[in-house]
Order: sequence, then structure tokens, then C-alpha cells
Amino acid sequence: MDLSNFSGEDAEFVLDAYHTHSALLFREQDLSHENLISFSYLFGEVDEAPENQLKKAVPGKPQIYVVSNIKGENGKPIGSLGAGEAIWHADMSDRENPPEATLLYAVELPPAGGDTWIAGMAAALEGMPDDLRKKIEGRSIKHDGTYNSGGFVRKGVEASDDPLTCPGTLHPAICAHPATGKPVLYLGRRRNAYVDGLSLEDSEALLDALWAHATQDAYCYAHRWRKGDLLMWDNRSTLHRRDEFNPAHRRMMLRTQTKGSGIPRAA
Ligand code: SIN
Repeated sequence: MDLSNFSGEDAEFVLDAYHTHSALLFREQDLSHENLISFSYLFGEVDEAPENQLKKAVPGKPQIYVVSNIKGENGKPIGSLGAGEAIWHADMSDRENPPEATLLYAVELPPAGGDTWIAGMAAALEGMPDDLRKKIEGRSIKHDGTYNSGGFVRKGVEASDDPLTCPGTLHPAICAHPATGKPVLYLGRRRNAYVDGLSLEDSEALLDALWAHATQDAYCYAHRWRKGDLLMWDNRSTLHRRDEFNPAHRRMMLRTQTKGSGIPRAA
């Protein structure tokens, strides 16, 4: 499929595949900034980069932000996340109405490393042992607002490692997918997470068990990038993470995301 030349029939096929599989890969694309933005609109209203990331957006295109370790002439990074590992997360799930689709387009890649992993949270929930599932039914989990997935403290926030007092938002542990209504596990990120209503000790033990279950190989896809790949995923039904890569090599990705269509609801 050529995403720079997209028909109504293609749109129906792609949306159907997206809601069935939660993540899609389009290879050998050659996309202008406008192509990337207009394809992203298929999945919802395209969001602008958050205010603290706007300086890492493509100049004149606040909807496209740069994920890169490359430094500009002023010696400052032109993008976010550097070359380190990005831990498992769903994008910006600390918001009340978190974004839905993320689209990531590979412009420049290191010779090794930087693979992006996706884990399916509908399958993880389906495969969850009953005793574990019962422990989270009807419960909410706090999604941390202190750190991003690269471990950097978010702008305007005090560093904190106390799940009870750190900034964050509670979302149901099992959500109804906003488009399909299918139940999905919604974990966000492990750091500073907290299962509401439990002691910190019980919450930590339950979260460890949930994360060990949800990120098993059986639910994961590891993507080895090629230039021109566009990989996209649904943040309401998947988690993703990225492997580190050698900081001496360059990696440049362009990313868009769509706004949430509503606050996450319990299944
Ligand atoms: C991200 O976590 O949004 C970035 C993933 C990547 O750089 O592959």
C-alpha cells in the first residue's frame, strides 16, 4: 500500500485491520510531512506535540514530533528519548483522556539496536489466569505523570518515586476498548504505578505479577526497522518499548498521534 496515495477503499480496509490487530506495519513508504499528517487523520483527530515537546516538533509542523538522538548545530537534541532504552508504556496514559493511535515513521536508522516492541493487551487479558484477573476486576491503576518512558522527569514536575503521592491519573485496570468495546488490560507504565485501594506492598506485588504476565513473549512482537517503515499501534490496546542503541549512531523517527476519543471506561 502506498500511503501517499490513499483511496477510500484502502481506508476501510486499514481501519478494519487496525481494530482487529491493534498494530500495523507499512513497508517501503516515501512520505512527505503532509502525507504523514493526512494518513494519521484516518485514525482520529491529530494531536499537536505536548507543549514541553513542541521544540522537538518538525519546524512549522507541530503535529509531527521527532524521536531522535541526533544533535543540532547548537549541540542540543533535535528530538526526544535519546539513544537509551524506552521502557514498556502506553503513550501519555497519565492524561485523563490519553491519545489513541501512535504512528512512527523511520527516516534514519542505526545499523543495530533500537528495535520497537509491541505487546497486545487484549490477548494478555484473555490469557490471564482467573485468580490474577479476579484481583484486578473493578479496580483502578494509577498511571504516573512524573517520568517519561526514557526515565526523564517531565517538564514542570518534581522528581518522585513514591507511587502514593506522585502525580498521576487513575484508569480502570480492565477497560472497554473505545471503538470495539473489547475488554483490554490497561497498565500504562510500571514505574510509580499503584493499584488504588491496596497497601503499597500488596499493590507492588500485584503489579509485578501483572507486568510479568502481560509482557511474556507470547503477547509481544519485536520490530526490526527498515528505512521507510511506518509502524503504528493503538495505545488503548497495546504497550510498547524500545531497545537501546549505540549513541554514536544516528536514529531519526517522525511521530504523530491522535487525540483520545474519550476517557478510558471500565469493561
Ligand atoms: C516511543 O516509545 O514512542 C518511541 C519508540 C521508538 O523510538 O521506537
